[in-house]
Amino acid sequence: MVAPFNEPIYVTRPLLPDIQIVNSKINDIWESKWLTNNGTQHKKLELELMKYLNVKNISLFNNGTMALLLGLKSLDLKGEVITTPFTFPATVQALDWNGLTPVFCDIDPQTLNIDTCKIEALITEDTSAILGVHVFGNPCDVYEIQKIADKYNLKVIYDGAHTFGTKIDGQPIGSFGDITMFSFHATKLFNTIEGGALVVKDEKLNEKVSLLKNFGLSGPEEVVLSGLNAKMNEVQAGIGVEVLKIVDEERAKRKKIKETYERNLADIPGIRVITNLENEYSSYQYFVIEIDEGIYGRSRDWVHDELKKYNVFTRRYFYPLCSEFEWYKHLESAQPNNLPQAQKSVKQVLSMPYYGELELKSVEKICAILMEIHLGNSGDTPQQKIGSAVL
Ligand SMILES: Cc1ncc(COP(=O)(O)O)c(C=O)c1O
Repeated sequence: MVAPFNEPIYVTRPLLPDIQIVNSKINDIWESKWLTNNGTQHKKLELELMKYLNVKNISLFNNGTMALLLGLKSLDLKGEVITTPFTFPATVQALDWNGLTPVFCDIDPQTLNIDTCKIEALITEDTSAILGVHVFGNPCDVYEIQKIADKYNLKVIYDGAHTFGTKIDGQPIGSFGDITMFSFHATKLFNTIEGGALVVKDEKLNEKVSLLKNFGLSGPEEVVLSGLNAKMNEVQAGIGVEVLKIVDEERAKRKKIKETYERNLADIPGIRVITNLENEYSSYQYFVIEIDEGIYGRSRDWVHDELKKYNVFTRRYFYPLCSEFEWYKHLESAQPNNLPQAQKSVKQVLSMPYYGELELKSVEKICAILMEIHLGNSGDTPQQKIGSAVL
């Protein structure tokens, strides 16, 4: 029997700069008496992120949701937007707050991203855009999405909340589509506690986004757009500047953790790793598995609950599907028979503990537990299944 962990193993832990560095940074901000509205830290973070993400512009926000909401607003979209039901609520809530109706498209079984083969059938004369989500850091099929968008004259927006620093064929992920949103929430690889950003391709649109996040103010006494307050403040930005210095080290640690998981999960029947791109510029945001109950012998929900007994806390992320929200249930595209793959995946996917400080021996032990609790067809005893090396 594998013994439970003495301390809880959480699904994630925030990446924290040294507290003395943070104290001294806050001290600087206090002395400057400039706490928000495009201060020194804000400007510095913008410049550094443009370099890091290799993009021509970036607009910082108080969180990713507001960034997406105002990015959509800047495009003056109307009617329907084709998107995925397998995402965090914020994706579709940003549509809702813009008076836009989501049209749910089923997902690809491999990447769990919007299934590009099914997009065209959903386009109507009311369709104005495609909103793709790079789920768990796996990029959407950006080339195919752009082809469809060009054919039907649609805008393309990406929710890239999980793709900090990801590249596709060497190209920065923010260079695809019209707008890409990043989230800098505490649970993300790069964080500003709460925060987010937009990368907007078109220069004019980028200026509009800057107005929208500051009440639509073009000057102290001139309001030209119906904006909101969605600015990132100096403390958030200052912390971001410090987190950026340690993000590559975190990425390297997560790469090792990912490889350890993959090695140790390889022999467990019925478990597939979702986040297993070869791309070395993956964001390493999540480590997510899919449990096939028919082969593993236990359901995802059972595993999620059973792991708690071992002091291991995983997350059914994303769950439930956004198409099941009370206010969308009536939509034709939200009907379960139109979303067979999403319906299947939402019951199988489990986000595993994943953060740089997670020890490799803990990862091995989590995998040993997953081996121990499965009911395979081999007839092995738990001891035979686990082996001894990892305990
Ligand atoms: C896919 C996705 N979109 C949007 C968001 C919202 O981002 P934020 O928490 O920065 O508002 C999240 C949040 O974690 C997310 O996972």
